[in-house]
Amino acid sequence: MKKVILAYSGGLDTTCAVKWLKDKGFEVICFSASLGSEFSPQDLKKRAMKSGASRIYIKDLSSEFASEYILSCLKADAVYQQKYVLSTAMGRPLIAKYLVDIAHKENAQFVAHGCTGKGNDQVRIDVSIKILDSKLKIIAPLREWHLTSRESEIAYAKKYNLPIKSTKKKIYSIDKNIWGVSIEAGILEDLKNVPAEDAYMFTKSLEKTPNKADFVNIEFKKGVPIKINNKQKCLVDIIKYLNTLGGKHCIGRSDLVEDRTIGIKSREVYEAPAAWILLKAHQELQSLVLDKETRYFKSLVSLKYAQLIYQGLWFTRLKKSLDAFINVTQEKVSGSIKLKLFKGNVIVNKRISSNSLYKKELATYSEHDAFKKEDSVGFINIFSMPYMEG
Ligand code: ARG
Repeated sequence: MKKVILAYSGGLDTTCAVKWLKDKGFEVICFSASLGSEFSPQDLKKRAMKSGASRIYIKDLSSEFASEYILSCLKADAVYQQKYVLSTAMGRPLIAKYLVDIAHKENAQFVAHGCTGKGNDQVRIDVSIKILDSKLKIIAPLREWHLTSRESEIAYAKKYNLPIKSTKKKIYSIDKNIWGVSIEAGILEDLKNVPAEDAYMFTKSLEKTPNKADFVNIEFKKGVPIKINNKQKCLVDIIKYLNTLGGKHCIGRSDLVEDRTIGIKSREVYEAPAAWILLKAHQELQSLVLDKETRYFKSLVSLKYAQLIYQGLWFTRLKKSLDAFINVTQEKVSGSIKLKLFKGNVIVNKRISSNSLYKKELATYSEHDAFKKEDSVGFINIFSMPYMEG
């Protein structure tokens, strides 16, 4: 019997996919990854078996997700189109990597996923699989089957007595992991609508934020956050802590009309409190320790890096090469940044680093000035030379 490894979430799409693949003559082996989403392994297992799977692999990948995927994007300051911290995007190559690993272990020639035929995730998963093992055959039931609406999927599931959670109309499509929540579809497809408050999972509404600020001190070592308020914590715990604290102050919401890889413009609402707090702290620290040209060049690299990750080009030589550059820039990124969190704002409060290039005696306008002003004249003469036409 042909074997297929299916990336399985337990939702309606992948539940129908198990049955559909079985009917196509496959033995279906499910794989579920937790990247910090709600998730009960017992429930997933029960549902997968009831849908017709022969086995299920369930893995908690939050720690690998944080230490390799989130950390790379944090060091890179990767943000897509100024508003998206790439939370969904960076999880896809990790899922693809495990699909390929399990396929090898199970000696399967096929892998499958529940991505739609017009989104970014199909590109990210397919491209990653093709790079990791070009011989594997990829099946995306949603690109092939006759079930073209949620209603038709529900009818299909009912007909075959498949376990579906709720037949209520889902208002949004939500993807959540520890780096952020992506909310789309439903009323958000009309650009005149704003999401209802109950769409958000991490953040309180701005109206309900406290009138008193919280302060947080974040310490980095070579670009890696290691301590919060002087307490050592692993990255997953730092992120969880900041999601709660930032969520209380309504930090990290964004509403973006974005350009998908396949060319469609789409609207997505995001919330990512920890991500925005850490990105802010990281950038503030870099501003102290990186020289002017490295800092400028790194900002160009950030833009390209974010686009690469968005497009699913994680396992490429270019990504690896940019990581090499970024890691050299991070050698000096040690120190701590104190931030004030208040009414949706992240405000820098204090910057400390033993690698700081800031020299008060040069910057000062007081009498302790050590800068040789007379040198400026010669510098300006030569600096302006290429532009003078007369
Ligand atoms: N637009 C985001 C991306 O392409 C998120 C996609 C999934 N969103 C969702 N709500 N299911 O990475």
